[in-house]
This record gives sequence, C-alpha cells and structure tokens, in this order.
Amino acid sequence: MCGIVGYIGKREKREFLLDGLRELEYRGYDSAGIAVLHQNEINYFKAGGKLDNLIEKTKDFRSIGFGLGIAHTRWATHGKPTEINAHPHWGEFSFVIHNGIIENYMEIKKELQSEGVVFLSQTDSEVIVHLFEKFISQNLTPQIAFEKTVQSLKGAFAVLLISKVASETIFFAKNAVPLILGKSSIDEIFFGSSDAPLIGFADEVTYLEDGTYGWANKEEIQIYKGSQKLKPVFKPLNTSKIYAQKDGFRFFMEKEIYEQSAVASETLMGRIKDDKVFLEELNGYDFNDIDEIKICACGTSYHAALTSSYLFERLAKIRCSVEIASEFRYKEPLLDKKTLFLVISQSGETADTLEALKMAKRAGLKTLSICNVDNSSIVRLSDATILTRAGIEKGVASTKAFATQVLSLWLLALHVAKFNNNISDEKCTSEIKAIRGIPAVLKVDEEIHEKLHRLSKRYLHGHGFFFIGRDIFFPLALEGALKLKEISYLHAEGYPAGEMKHGPIALADSTLFTVALMPQNMLYDKTKSNVEELSARDATILAISPKEFVLADDFIKTQPYEHPMSEFFEMMVITQLLALEISIRLGNDVDMPRNLAKSVTVE
Ligand code: AGP
Repeated sequence: MCGIVGYIGKREKREFLLDGLRELEYRGYDSAGIAVLHQNEINYFKAGGKLDNLIEKTKDFRSIGFGLGIAHTRWATHGKPTEINAHPHWGEFSFVIHNGIIENYMEIKKELQSEGVVFLSQTDSEVIVHLFEKFISQNLTPQIAFEKTVQSLKGAFAVLLISKVASETIFFAKNAVPLILGKSSIDEIFFGSSDAPLIGFADEVTYLEDGTYGWANKEEIQIYKGSQKLKPVFKPLNTSKIYAQKDGFRFFMEKEIYEQSAVASETLMGRIKDDKVFLEELNGYDFNDIDEIKICACGTSYHAALTSSYLFERLAKIRCSVEIASEFRYKEPLLDKKTLFLVISQSGETADTLEALKMAKRAGLKTLSICNVDNSSIVRLSDATILTRAGIEKGVASTKAFATQVLSLWLLALHVAKFNNNISDEKCTSEIKAIRGIPAVLKVDEEIHEKLHRLSKRYLHGHGFFFIGRDIFFPLALEGALKLKEISYLHAEGYPAGEMKHGPIALADSTLFTVALMPQNMLYDKTKSNVEELSARDATILAISPKEFVLADDFIKTQPYEHPMSEFFEMMVITQLLALEISIRLGNDVDMPRNLAKSVTVE
C-alpha cells in the first residue's frame, strides 16, 4: 500500500523524506519517489523497486535552507510498477503524490487529452496535477485552483501537491485514505500517511477528516470541508516508534484485524467495473481447456483454498480439489494437463507450496498463484498471479492476508464462471453486490470487540475448543481454531458440524468449549441440530449467529446479512478477535508466538 511523507522547513529535505519513506516500508511498495521545491526550483527523483534504488539515485542531492518536499512509495494499482508510474507526477510547474484511487480519472483524462494535455504515466493520479495546472491557466489563484481540482475528484485519496506558483506551500486533500498533518515548535510542517515518519520530529499532529483539503506554509495552515473553514485540533504525538507503527494498537495482529476493511478495498480496487470482474492479470489467460482446478497451500492459505473450493464448484461449476502442499508432494499425484494448478501463499516463499508448484510445472500444467508478495519465488514461477494487496503482514498469525485471499478467490471464481458461461447475469450481479459490501462488513464492531474482551476470561481453561460450521463455515472453523491455537497455545480443532457425532462428541462436557458458527444463509437448521446435540451433552456453547439461540451459554449476535459470504467475513473477524483477546489475557506474545515463523522456507 502506498505511503506519503511531506515536509516544510529548514531541515535537509532529502534525508528527512527518505527516512520517512523508510518508516513506511512495512506497508509494502514497488517504487518510490521524491520532489523538493527550494528557491523556486523543483528537483525530483523516482526509482522502481526498493528504496535503496532511490537512495542511490539521490546520493549527491542535498537541499539546505528553507524549502519543502513530498515523497511517496507506490503499491501499483493502476498501471504497472514502473519508474514512470512512480510518484511524484508532474505537469509544467507542479508535482503531485497520491494514495488511493480516482474513480473518475478516465473522464478527466479524456477531457484533458482533448485539450492537448500529454500524459506520461498510466496512473489515475496524474490527472490531479494537470487539472490543477489547467485551473491555474484560467487565472485562478493557487488556492481556488486546488479547491476546484479536489472538487472534481471522485474516489479515495490522500494528495500532496507542490507548485512553483506557490513556492512555500503544500496543498493537501484527504478522503477515505489516511493523512496526518503535524507541526513542530520550530515552525516546521509535516505530513504522513501514518504517524511513523513524524515521530521524533513533529510535536503535535492532527488526523485530517474525510472530505477535507487545504494548504500549509510557514504563515498559516488552512483546512476546509466543503466551503466551511475548520479549526484543526492538534494532539501531542506519542514518541514511541513501535507504538506509531502499530497505530496505537496493542499488537500488529490487532492492527491488521482492524485494517481488513481498508485492505479489502485495495484488493477490489480496479477489479470490479459495471458489475463485472476485471482481473487484468488474467488477460489472455485461457480457461477453455481446463476442466478441474487443483489448489495447493499450507496453513491459513490452505483454509482460504478450502473455502474457495465451495465457490468454484457452486459459482463456476468447475471441479475443484484442495491439497495440503506437504501431503501433495509425496503422494505421487496423478496430474492431468486439463487441470489448472492454483497455489495460495501470503509470503510466496513457503517451501512446500513452492515445491508443489514446481512439480505441477514439470508436469506441464497451467499454473496460477494468489499471493501477497510481488516478486516472491511463487509469483516469479507461476504463469500468472493475482496479488492480494494486503500490505505487509507482521503478525505471525495471518488475518488480513486470509481475508484478501478469500476475497481474491471469490473474484477468481466469478471470473472463471463468466469465462465458461456458467453463471447468469442476475447471479453475477448479486454476487458482485455482496462483494462490494465486504469492506463495510470487515469494519470491526467496537461493541462486539468489547464483548469478546469480557468473554475471553471465561475461556482460559478447560480441555479444549471445537470450532464447528458447515459448508464454507467449516474452513472458517478450521481457521478460527488455528488462530486460537497458534497464539493462545490452547488446544483447538475445527470440525464440520455434522461430523461431531462420528467421534468428537465423546469429548463433550462442560469444559469442552464449542464455538458454533451459525449463519442464517447456510444450512442454519442443520447446524443448529448439531449444536443442540452438543448442548445436550453439557458442552459450553459460544454461538455466533444473527439468530437468537436459547441454548447458547454465550452469544455473539451478528448482522442479518443476506449473503453467506458477508456472514463468513463478519464471523471471521469475530473468531480473530476472540483468539486475540484470549491470548492477550494469557500474557502471550501475540505477534511472535512461540515456535512459529512468519515465512516457512523449510519443508
Ligand atoms: C497462519 O496464521 C500461519 N502464519 C501459517 O499457517 C501460514 O498461513 C502458512 O505457514 C502458510 O504461509 P504462506 O501463506 O506464506 O504460504
């Protein structure tokens, strides 16, 4: 995900901006750039790949004395991760950096092109700087020109713009993407897409509201919302770097759970238009000769795979089998060239998954990967990749990576369904309507979080947990149990609800905790009967459902969503928070649980 840094003051600009970008590296990016305005001259540098490339390019550049600068790390969405698509983008005399997406950029771009403006990049962001300069050419003041520019934009954006027509000012705008403005006692002004680059420099900060824009220079900071001038509320900035990286959350895992709504929007960005799925990565990828999908993965990624197997068969009407990569490798599998081999991996480096992919390639199968890390081994080896765009996941227990894997797989299932003409337009439209709603579903409900915090104290002992569910809620039960066991070290199992009576029910007593996933849109009555069987044997039941359930010992009421996948994502957040709260109560290191590594590069 993109990062933004901005500065006005006497400090050496290059060093401050590059250090700031370094603080944002954890968000993930594929190119970077800076622009510095000093004595009415603008110097700019851009580089693809890691920040070190930009550091190397700027090594002889210094900017001493009063001036201003903007800096950006880009995670490609519109246009490839090339140097020309890196930010800043420029016009004749102005430079811009932007996070987010300008939904109406095509309209604006066409209009500007018809007026003779030449675009250099494939990005949506470049329209901002040209639009600003167009308004300047109409003899508007820089402030009015910027205001009119912002009013023309639709979508999500955090924008910083500098221009020779106002050589001591940074113009800024914020809507649905974070942007922070800070100041110091020595008349410096700072901008950041999170606190991290500002720590140790700014004394106080204001977290800009959605729909605001304005300008800052050494004389004034003006912030507007619509035509209304706002009085910014500045708060002291915490001085701990690690606190800043966690945005005030206790653990990275907690932050990542709360980030899921935003990263789901990133996953979907540019991939749904006019009720159709557009997976640019699959342009020219032919599913005609494919009659089966085989998925290989490990751990959480395996659970995403299992979830998607229901979607592939149900929506795309294509056979789908799922295998744990370490099992697949040694079973001497029979592979057929009409099978698409799909691997799923957050890191893209998991040894077993990578080796399974190599086996499939050797057997001549068409391959595809769902991955969070561009340029990872799995991405490089696959014929094509759908990047999940979750940003760097620091917590060992995977949360936002899982959410974005499932969302990407849902898009893929619809893409295949459409390709093979196996889905009606009405069905496709209703699926896309549900998909569009997922970022909202993923917003953490603070009341539910608080309730789980209180409930967690009752679940610290006992002889184990069963997470149970049916259909797609079975892999979610597996994932809920994995989350709990890896960070709490309590024994937990995921089980198909209908399977309990074939053995595990023998364990049922009051100290067996059952987390029952009871969605209203997926086999509710069947699941309910299975939970009643457990309740009759005195198991302690934590029911998660939109429907009241009288036999529940504890109950988390969910929203009455109409689509089972919406219920899936809401329940996913609840099981993640349950694991988190139990683990915190037990005093465990949530982000670095014992015996586990984030990337498992050994078999
Ligand atoms: C889940 O919380 C774990 N971190 C683990 O199961 C993980 O999903 C597994 O090791 C696979 O990793 P990958 O997605 O990077 O391939």
